[in-house]
Amino acid sequence: MAFLALLFISSLLVVSLAEISGKIGINYGREGEDLPSPYVSIQIMKSMKVGQIELADSNPEILTLLSGTRIHVAVTVPNDDIIRIGSNETYAEQWFRNSFMPHYPNTLIQFVLVGNGVLNSGLDGDRMMFYDSLLPAMRVIKNSLNAHGIKNVKVTTTLPTDALQMSFPPSSSTFRSDIVGKIDCCKTRS
Ligand SMILES: *[C@@H]1O[C@H](CO)[C@@H](O)[C@H](O)[C@H]1NC(C)=O
Repeated sequence: MAFLALLFISSLLVVSLAEISGKIGINYGREGEDLPSPYVSIQIMKSMKVGQIELADSNPEILTLLSGTRIHVAVTVPNDDIIRIGSNETYAEQWFRNSFMPHYPNTLIQFVLVGNGVLNSGLDGDRMMFYDSLLPAMRVIKNSLNAHGIKNVKVTTTLPTDALQMSFPPSSSTFRSDIVGKIDCCKTRS
């Protein structure tokens, strides 16, 4: 029941995506107690005609269950992996070979989200390391995609809710001054 409630809340959060595709989008993570199995969860999502799923990681069981479906998928490189991926190309290539390639293109992976909310404002020492590894990690994954001739998968990151310094009115929103440089850099290199 809690799971269904979560699904429902997530589907409200991604209503803007839903409007674009005419379908529901779901945020799907496996942290919690008494969750239905991935198989059952995916069955529920199929019956809801979910169009897009954002995974909290690149869970191979879930990605396999989604293969051959028409559900578009965003996989996430967990924050814990960002420093290693950004600094160790061997490790990055290994992540790509083991977590991405076995599922592409049979699973419609559309996005690789590098980290989740990394650019938040609560920068203690550890977070600062994530922060500085984010762009190198995004680039190395983009390079792996390019090396395999994969052009229709976007590399991006999930912004934290405090990414905006000013958010009203929406048309004059600005990013926080300490991250705007990183965001502009991503834009010009995309
Ligand atoms: C880089 O990653 C590879 C593969 O996981 C590992 O064997 C190697 O020790 C790592 N190198 C460094 C400097 O951490």
